Amino acid sequence: MNIINLIDLHKTYGSGESQVNALNDVSLSVDKGEMLAIMGPSGSGKSTLLNIIGCIDKPTIGKYLLFDRSIDGYNDIERAELRNEVFGFVVQDFSLVERYSVYKNIMIPLSYSKKIIKSKKDKIEKVLSQLGIMEKKNVMAFNLSMGQRQRVAIARAIVNDPDIILADEPTGSLDSNMGKEVMGILKELNREGKTIIIVTHDINVASYCHRTIQIKDGKVDLELTV
Ligand SMILES: Nc1ncnc2c1ncn2[C@@H]1O[C@H](COP(=O)(O)OP(=O)(O)OP(=O)(O)O)[C@@H](O)[C@H]1O
Ligand SMILES: [Mg+2]
Repeated sequence: MNIINLIDLHKTYGSGESQVNALNDVSLSVDKGEMLAIMGPSGSGKSTLLNIIGCIDKPTIGKYLLFDRSIDGYNDIERAELRNEVFGFVVQDFSLVERYSVYKNIMIPLSYSKKIIKSKKDKIEKVLSQLGIMEKKNVMAFNLSMGQRQRVAIARAIVNDPDIILADEPTGSLDSNMGKEVMGILKELNREGKTIIIVTHDINVASYCHRTIQIKDGKVDLELTV
């Protein structure tokens, strides 16, 4: 079942001489439960595409159906709600709040959530244990190693139980062993039913995925399915 359907997307930044066509007629469907890699050279439009998928950014032209609903007419508030309800984000530099504890960092998405959450504490403890960082619960973010940071970032991305996890270079700041660990965690989340889309430069990361698309100059250039 298709849960994401992007049809003829264009994204333009700026205007006049400084205009950049970041996406140039991209169409893409993603199935529920799929693990998809997006590869391509720097500046080819990967993050732009991921941000549009995650309702952080809007296409200039094109249609977006999410769970068969057209979201083209959604305003900023509706987009923000959708973003918080449906997506979990993991980024390369982790974007943790340094002066917050691990627990407080993972609390962030729950504090915005409109879902009725029986016990936020239980939810946080569940992901802390799932990611093997329970003993770091009260440690300040600035005291964590890179690998621990990425685990906290993943915990924060999944605490709200999103349908879709979007990861932009999730292993880009990690050494190869930590990268493997993080990919193992994402693969396990995929086995549990999460749909996962990963932007990466690393062919090893893509090898964990069911399908890889290659973006070049804002277009889908190549598609590989394993
Ligand atoms: N907010 C913005 N304003 C203006 N131009 C932008 C903006 N965001 C991206 N671009 C431009 O759009 C193009 C695509 O950028 P994007 O960040 O999507 O590439 P990318 O494939 O993610 O690159 P990288 O691998 O370096 O992260 C680039 O030319 C970039 O400079
Ligand atoms: Mg990028």
